[in-house]
Amino acid sequence: MKGVILAGGLGTRLHPLTKVTNKHLLPVYRKPMIYYPIEAMVAAGIRDVLVVTGGNSAGDFLKLLGNGSDFGLPTMNYTYQEGEGGIADALRLARHFADDDPICVILGDNIFEMSVKHAVDDYRKQGGGARILLKEVPDPERFGVPVLDGEKVVRIEEKPKNPQSQYAVVGLYMFDPHVFEVIETLQPSNRGELEITDVNNWYIDNGKMSWSVLDGWWTDAGTFDSLLRASQLVAKTGANNA
Ligand code: DAU
Repeated sequence: MKGVILAGGLGTRLHPLTKVTNKHLLPVYRKPMIYYPIEAMVAAGIRDVLVVTGGNSAGDFLKLLGNGSDFGLPTMNYTYQEGEGGIADALRLARHFADDDPICVILGDNIFEMSVKHAVDDYRKQGGGARILLKEVPDPERFGVPVLDGEKVVRIEEKPKNPQSQYAVVGLYMFDPHVFEVIETLQPSNRGELEITDVNNWYIDNGKMSWSVLDGWWTDAGTFDSLLRASQLVAKTGANNA
């Protein structure tokens, strides 16, 4: 399985912090934000990692992450997303890198308390399709929200005004290589982006989606409040614990 970290986009919700630099280079407690998803990949046993960057200061990723040796990786792979076409638009750039292997995708502003190795191992055993992780949150309207029928996820709604559950779909997704064909069928959403939620709904509609509930805390870091919370949580417990 290969790993793809999405660190493109323009981070406009964090202006002026992101006016001249990239959101994923901002500090979360003691490290730049992008370190956490990379360390999550490594903790899950993933050795081939691609960083999709974009926007400002893209060259600084090379300076910061180099050849991946600081993370114990054999190399580091990079590509560049033009503009802010959405998460699925950034993911489409990983097609060549994935080369028909299954992929684990982590959003560059997502931070996990516990190692995600279990979830990745469960997907490895699943033999195709997709897998998502859910976490109960106080503010589901900020996220992709699953609609549940018993144990079944029947669809995911992106930032619904009236969330149908208290769960958020966290920014870690596992897909088989068919994902790149699904992306080619997508239309931009109301916010003008190719949505990862539409990709996930394709897998749900085709009966190929599994899910589990994530252990430990989880946060994004893409707003002022969540960026502050991320630093506080990491300072308290660390991240990606085994
Ligand atoms: O954090 C989890 C949530 O992430 C999910 O629950 C939502 O379903 C999903 O849509 C996403 O929501 P956000 O609106 O918070 O995502 P955001 O635009 O902040 O993008 C998250 C990361 O994805 C960002 O740190 C970098 C990457 N990204 C985003 C865009 C829009 C890209 O690489 N390129 C992009 O064009």
